[in-house]
Amino acid sequence: MPLINPLDLLKEASKNDFAIPAFNVHTMEMIQAVAEKAAEMRAPVIIQTTPGTLRHAGIAYIVSNVKTAAEKYNIPIALHLDHCSDYNIVIKCIRGGYTSVMVDGSMLPYQENVKLVKDVVKVAKAADIAVEGEIGRIGGTEDNISVDNKKENLTTPKEAKKFTRDTGINSLAVAIGTAHGVYKGEPKLDFKRLIEIKNEVNVPLVLHGASGVPEESVKKAIEKGMTKINIATDLKIPMTEAIKKYFKENPKLNDPRKYLGEGKKAVKQVLEEKIKLCGVVGLLDR
Ligand code: 13P
Repeated sequence: MPLINPLDLLKEASKNDFAIPAFNVHTMEMIQAVAEKAAEMRAPVIIQTTPGTLRHAGIAYIVSNVKTAAEKYNIPIALHLDHCSDYNIVIKCIRGGYTSVMVDGSMLPYQENVKLVKDVVKVAKAADIAVEGEIGRIGGTEDNISVDNKKENLTTPKEAKKFTRDTGINSLAVAIGTAHGVYKGEPKLDFKRLIEIKNEVNVPLVLHGASGVPEESVKKAIEKGMTKINIATDLKIPMTEAIKKYFKENPKLNDPRKYLGEGKKAVKQVLEEKIKLCGVVGLLDR
């Protein structure tokens, strides 16, 4: 199956009690793991990469790997660019075969953020590519972007409505208390805020920083209106730990297929939990 624009799925999710899991990948093994698990569980998924991963692997390698996976298993996979503030990279990804992009101008003054996002929306619309924007600021560290506690800024329903209208985006990432990366304490999600935002905004809402959030909170966030759940750290750490364990137990071995294979296995275990958590097991057969 060709890569899909995820918007129809996100709209369906916003009317139902499920969300589409969006997994950040960094290597071919992670792409394989996501596709194999999604096929096995008959679940739609979004595979996403940050600009840092593009610097590491290049757009063409990522696109061809993800396309190969979607064709091999004949399942709907969307390929999404996560947190990109560079207009030229966004356009390169659209031209290269991405089916969804997040243009993140959340560090810019409001009018500049709107202009950047609107410019992308114009091109993306013509190419049938979904655009995710962000208003408010999600804290923590993603790629090489760090937002400290002082700069973190929860989204207000009023600005969410205005930003969505001013830009024409297809989905909106909102800050309701999650953060990227590893949490220091247990994150407290502001569900009241989420419900108010959902009432004001007519596009699907996106939860960033879902790693390390208690399952009950993720489930509640989905129930209250989150339609896309972003997961990066919860894949990255188990993959790395599995590889470290492999070397600890086999200090003399040096076959990348073996240690990356162990990493892939660990990623698949987490993927299974996350796909269940999002409520999309068997969705492709419903
Ligand atoms: P985590 O690393 O906290 O899972 O965040 C992922 C994310 O939101 C990607 O945009």
